Amino acid sequence: MKVLMICLGNICRSPTAEVVLRVLAERESPGLFSLIDSAGTADYHLGEQPDARSVAAAARRGYDLSALRARQLVRDDFENFDLILAMDRSNLAAMRALAPAAATDKLQLFLHYAPTAGLTEMPDPYYGQPSDFDRVIDLCELAAQGLIKRFSSQRR
Ligand code: 4NP
Repeated sequence: MKVLMICLGNICRSPTAEVVLRVLAERESPGLFSLIDSAGTADYHLGEQPDARSVAAAARRGYDLSALRARQLVRDDFENFDLILAMDRSNLAAMRALAPAAATDKLQLFLHYAPTAGLTEMPDPYYGQPSDFDRVIDLCELAAQGLIKRFSSQRR
């Protein structure tokens, strides 16, 4: 199963979601996902490394974001991935606008898999405080656990 994480810039939330899911899935359900990637709906930061504040927050929790580079969502992604997960509703709307009709079932909010989080969108930390970047890690871990649980039980 191939999963693509989507946010606006692909420098804060979706790179964090990509790496957290990769690390937790490798630990808890190796082989469940054959590809985990991330992209942005916007083109502001193409080719850039994740935001230094995201890299630092991730490193504090043992995740390494340093090898990632930002890219933009493209139409081919809707064919290549099985599940395309938006960090917020604005991203989801942008994804829907680009997606072929046949792919709409692949589009969801990432926090759909974190029903206990108390919110359905991952808050954008870009104009926020360091604690907002820590909160992104918390939410990514919660949703990644839910996603792994959901699809590893389906596999049995
Ligand atoms: P992300 O955060 O969508 O989580 O990567 C943002 C990155 C860049 C901007 C906004 C949010 N920006 O306005 O450049």
